[in-house]
Amino acid sequence: MSDILVHTEAGVGTITFNRPDKKNSITSAMYGALADALATAQADPSVRCVVLQGSETIFSAGNDIADFLNNPPAAADAPVFRFLRGIAQFPKPLIAAVCGPAVGVGTTLLFHCDLVYAGDNAAFSMPFVNLGLCPEAASSLLVPQMLGYHRAAEALLLGEPFMAEAALEVGLVNRVLPPSETTGYAQSVARKLAAKPLSALVETKRLMKKNQNAQVLAVMDEEAVSFGRMLQEPAAREAFGAFMERRKPDFSKL
Ligand code: COA
Repeated sequence: MSDILVHTEAGVGTITFNRPDKKNSITSAMYGALADALATAQADPSVRCVVLQGSETIFSAGNDIADFLNNPPAAADAPVFRFLRGIAQFPKPLIAAVCGPAVGVGTTLLFHCDLVYAGDNAAFSMPFVNLGLCPEAASSLLVPQMLGYHRAAEALLLGEPFMAEAALEVGLVNRVLPPSETTGYAQSVARKLAAKPLSALVETKRLMKKNQNAQVLAVMDEEAVSFGRMLQEPAAREAFGAFMERRKPDFSKL
């Protein structure tokens, strides 16, 4: 079975992370499939709204660490960047249903969604610093904007997880539900949206986003340059090596 499942029904496109044995961590091939699924949903007039979801216990563990080390994104058209640009510019309503851990890009992609529903087991984290890296997906812009600077600094410098209720309080999440009800609720909202006039939805989203689009893309590009460089540096090597060897990283000399 594919690691990314795509399904369309009654005007709702659903994209599901389906790699449970690796906690829905995302490989380059999966980024390619995600980017293609978004492009297809954008072009298909029968899709009026998209839901992005994981399972009841895991949303996504972020980048697949081994794949990221072996195939670091080399160019602007690398699948990860195609996906990030695709999600940032997706014109139709985008809903996320998040249960369990949402690590790294599993959290930063949510800042590009229009509505986010979380299971009460959702745990959001952006541990880029702990991995010797810097923010991506324009999160260095969007996280301070949504959380305020001090809470953003806590989330991005300490990189510790915060739970669904805290995410609700800062506005990252619209509603917290029992995990068994989260995707069903997201689907019911998606069906409500799908019954509305698509042109009005698209124009409303365009107007809400237009003042920041160019800035979001520029920040993403700047972050990507730093992220790519830092991926090759000793701190990231140590962090990723420690994850693979299941030990604590030692940054004392870095
Ligand atoms: N990349 C690759 N493999 C990953 C992964 C990732 N980001 N996250 C988890 N996995 C793999 C583990 O290596 C393990 O594989 P194995 O069974 O072959 O040994 C499997 O998924 C289960 O992971 P495990 O850590 O045992 O699950 P858990 O329930 O204890 O913890 C997480 C889940 C998501 C909290 C934890 O796996 C985690 O923190 N992952 C790293 C997340 C991360 O740093 N992502 C940012 C990358 S930029």
